[in-house]
Amino acid sequence: MSNPEAPSNVEGANSAGPEELKLIVQRGYDECSPTYTTWQDSRGVPQSVSDNLSRLFSHLKPNASILELGCGPGIPCTRLLVGHELELNVTAVDISASQITHAREKVQSPRVEFVHADMTKLDYPEGTFDAVVAFYSFFHLPREEQGPMVKKIAKWLKPGGVLLMNMKKEEGDDIVEKWMGVTMFSTGFGVEGNLKMLEEYGEGLDIEAKLVGEKLGLSVEVFFHWIWAVKK
Ligand SMILES: C[S@@+](CC[C@H](N)C(=O)[O-])C[C@H]1O[C@@H](n2cnc3c(N)ncnc32)[C@H](O)[C@@H]1O
Repeated sequence: MSNPEAPSNVEGANSAGPEELKLIVQRGYDECSPTYTTWQDSRGVPQSVSDNLSRLFSHLKPNASILELGCGPGIPCTRLLVGHELELNVTAVDISASQITHAREKVQSPRVEFVHADMTKLDYPEGTFDAVVAFYSFFHLPREEQGPMVKKIAKWLKPGGVLLMNMKKEEGDDIVEKWMGVTMFSTGFGVEGNLKMLEEYGEGLDIEAKLVGEKLGLSVEVFFHWIWAVKK
C-alpha cells in the first residue's frame, strides 16, 4: 500500500475468497477515504509518480484516451492527467464509492468520467485506450485476478499504447489491521513472480520493470515495482 506505516499484520488472507478480499478493500477505503484524501492532499507527488507521468506524457498524443484503475480521491494522479496540456480524456475507476465522491469533488472537468466499479468487472472493446494506468491499486487485487486483469488491459490497449502501473515487491497476501484506521488487504507475487505473471498474461506487451524507492510523506523508504509495458 502507499502508506506502509501500519501497526499490525494478521494472517488470514489464505482462507478468504477473492470477492471477500475485495470487500475488505472496498469497505476499508469507504471508511478511510476522508483520512486518505487528507493524506494525499498534504504529501505532494512522489518523484516516482511524477517521473513516470512525464514519461507517459511524452509518449502520448493530444486528446489520447486514458483508463485509470483505482483512481482513489483523484489526487494527485487523476488531476495531473486531466490537467495536462495534452487535453487527455480520462476514464477513472474505483471500487470505493467514497473515494469516487472525493474524486468528483477534487477533479472537475468535462474530460473525466468517474466510474464506480470493480476494475475486474470492466469490459471494453479491443484497442479502446492509448494508456491504462494503475497507481498503488493493482496490489489490492487477489493474486488469481491479477493475471486475467493484465490480459484484459493488453486487449484494451491500442497498438503503441502503454500500461503504466506499480506493484508490490513483496510476495504473499497481507491483511493489515488499522492501516489508516481500517483493515486492508494487499498482495503480490514478488519481483520475479510479478514479471512471470506479466509475461504469461500480457500477450503482445513489451515489458520494462524496475524497483523504485519513495519516502515522500513516509518515515521509511518503501520500494514499489514499476511496470512500463507497450503494446506491440
Ligand atoms: C492506495 S489507493 C491509490 C489511489 C490513487 N491511485 C492514488 O495514487 O492515490 C488504492 C485505490 O484502489 C482502489 N481499488 C482497489 N481495488 C480495486 C478494484 N478491484 N477495482 C477498482 N478500484 C480498486 C481503492 O478503492 C483505492 O481507492
